[in-house]
Amino acid sequence: MQTASTLDVLRTALAALRKGGATVGLVPTMGALHEGHLTLVRRAREVCDHVVASIFVNPTQFGEGEDLDSYPRQLAEDAAMLEAEGVALLWAPGVEAMYPEGFATSISVKGVSEGLCGAARPGHFDGVATVVAKLFNQVMPDRAFFGEKDYQQLAVIRTMARDLDLTRPHADAIIGVPTVREADGLAMSSRNRYLSPEQRAAAATLPAAMRETVAGIEAGEPVAPALAALEKRLEAAGFDRPDYVALADAASLAPLDALGTAPARLLVAARIGGTRLIDNMAVSPRPA
Ligand code: PAF
Repeated sequence: MQTASTLDVLRTALAALRKGGATVGLVPTMGALHEGHLTLVRRAREVCDHVVASIFVNPTQFGEGEDLDSYPRQLAEDAAMLEAEGVALLWAPGVEAMYPEGFATSISVKGVSEGLCGAARPGHFDGVATVVAKLFNQVMPDRAFFGEKDYQQLAVIRTMARDLDLTRPHADAIIGVPTVREADGLAMSSRNRYLSPEQRAAAATLPAAMRETVAGIEAGEPVAPALAALEKRLEAAGFDRPDYVALADAASLAPLDALGTAPARLLVAARIGGTRLIDNMAVSPRPA
């Protein structure tokens, strides 16, 4: 596996990879890799000739008081994991390469980025959309792979690709990969390592309670009381009052107060001991 930390080296390495028309899949990450990221790499390897992974802790998607400084950085360990998974090229730019002096552009995706995490973390999705647009332009992948765990992020990136008529990758070539979970159901996240053993044990209430809420809503329980009960259950398990507990249309992320005949999603963001966890699950629609 080759590692590039400047655009010149990246472009030369990409030109070599593309020889003979080989396809390239991009797995963008912020490092601190776990099975969830490696699952994205494996999926990319199944459908592309070569996989390029990027590691960049993007400062513009962190708000004031968030964990930019403490976000885990372990480049050597991550590189070894990617190499073992057959990644051909690691793109690991420094902040100066991504945001050179005078950088003045931001991409803002309206609508789908505004509620949920967008409301709780102002500016977050502008930072995500801008850095992902840059990564797409730098690598020009045939396909790009993102975890469904960051469901709203995936929707924002797809909307951006569609609205800007991106071709590399085309909006349809942005692949969402199902969330990878620990044995007790907790969604894998680089931030899980912030949890103390007690908080980690309590955190398993999040997926368990969400699964029960999904089942209740699918069985016809009214949505508002089901969401209120989920919120109460999380607080009883030791979570702070959640940033949101919401049922939303799976495509537009518009909030729903009743389950309709289109696919829906249950989405939650809640802190436990200062660590913010997010999760989401599919909710099957009522038969048409
Ligand atoms: O999901 C992430 O790790 C980040 O938001 C991403 C997509 C790599 C952009 O910095």
